[in-house]
Amino acid sequence: MLHIKKDLLNAWPRYWMTFGIAQTLLPAISRPLNLHKKRATLFYEGLTGSGKTEITHLLQQFWGPFDAPLNMTSSAKGVMEEAYQFKDALLVIDDFKGINRYQEEMLRSVIQYSYDGTKTAKQNRDCTQQKEKGSRATLMMSGEHFLASEASAVARTILLEVDKINTVKTRDAYTRSWAMSPNYRGVTPRFIHWFLNQDHAKIKELVEKYHSDLQTRSSGKQNSSRIALNLSLNYLCWYLFVDFMADSGVVDRKEADELKDEHWGYVLKCQSSMLGRCEDEQSAIVFMRFLRQLIASKQVSIANLDGHYNEHKQQIGFVAPGSPGQVNLFPDITFTTVRSFARDTGIAGTERSIAKQLVDMEVICATDPARNKRLVRYGGSRQRVWTIDLEHLGFEVKPEIKAQQAQVLQLHPSEPAPKMDENGIF
Ligand SMILES: Nc1ncnc2c1ncn2[C@@H]1O[C@H](COP(=O)(O)OP(=O)(O)O)[C@@H](O)[C@H]1O
Ligand SMILES: [Mg+2]
Repeated sequence: MLHIKKDLLNAWPRYWMTFGIAQTLLPAISRPLNLHKKRATLFYEGLTGSGKTEITHLLQQFWGPFDAPLNMTSSAKGVMEEAYQFKDALLVIDDFKGINRYQEEMLRSVIQYSYDGTKTAKQNRDCTQQKEKGSRATLMMSGEHFLASEASAVARTILLEVDKINTVKTRDAYTRSWAMSPNYRGVTPRFIHWFLNQDHAKIKELVEKYHSDLQTRSSGKQNSSRIALNLSLNYLCWYLFVDFMADSGVVDRKEADELKDEHWGYVLKCQSSMLGRCEDEQSAIVFMRFLRQLIASKQVSIANLDGHYNEHKQQIGFVAPGSPGQVNLFPDITFTTVRSFARDTGIAGTERSIAKQLVDMEVICATDPARNKRLVRYGGSRQRVWTIDLEHLGFEVKPEIKAQQAQVLQLHPSEPAPKMDENGIF
């Protein structure tokens, strides 16, 4: 056990480990406290080579001798079946790549299902309900990028943004941790045993206190309640684990208090970054509003769009022949123009994150596979554009134009969805 304090906690940056250990042990205590109904996924978000696979794989050892973590190239159904089997245990899913929309959709649904364990019930032919197996596991995941614009998914995670680490500094602690890892699965039952002898009513009061503390710091913000709940449960589990270490003689009372304070600091940082990520989502809505205003008030020029071409104004795009109801916008020019028009209001996010959100909202209605843009011919060259559906942007599109559009769509049936190979690559 002394090893945990000396090595394990220092084998990666400490906040990776405090969040990680708490998430790992949370499923062991949440059912007796009746806190198992909302299970946030811990997601390590960082570039390849930062140590995510290793930390999550190591933490999985608290639940048994797993050789290799599951990864996101399995199907959503496969992941969910696995998550059903891991009742009240930790399930690690490694390396979400988000290289295409299928994977993104899958991540979204896995996080959603895992949060409250429900799956939409399907009906049998005789109208009785099919029993779908929802998740009963607590998830830990990693990947290079989380979903770009998913406040609702963010609110069902603890999203940790992690940097590349100096592995030379941590190598010794890391090596010793792997050497000790066969003992970890013995720690979990001891922790559970210790926990079952604690005062559960008092513990529930504690978690309510942390929840409301966090909530008051963020009140009114989008999804703040869920985020506060997720973080307060994680903090609670850390708090109990530290007390367990203190009762086992691994740390003294002063060290225990310091360890609790230390993690509380990480929790507050994480809270504000997650709230920021949720606000980002709304930036696409703000962006759309300004874009609509700019077009409607004819302060920008769009070639081939009835009454909207004006050589004295900034041209931000064009309508392609045969695609009425859609405009192709030059992404960088549009982004810069809208942002300078928005001035004081400010638009959070990058061109890329805005584009991803617009795709999610189907305002960008056609893209090349695995991209937000589309390559089209214009004025003798090829350009990458955002293809925007004017109706989804909030304009009224005349019925005769829609009819034309329907005809065009019939003439050029959209290509079948591209197929992935087994590695999830087009
Ligand atoms: N804490 C650490 N200390 C030293 N080396 C590490 C540590 N974590 C990972 N490594 C090494 O760094 C490399 C990349 O780690 P990995 O977990 O695969 O990164 P990721 O999954 O983020 O791409 C591996 O060779 C691993 O052995
Ligand atoms: Mg990896």
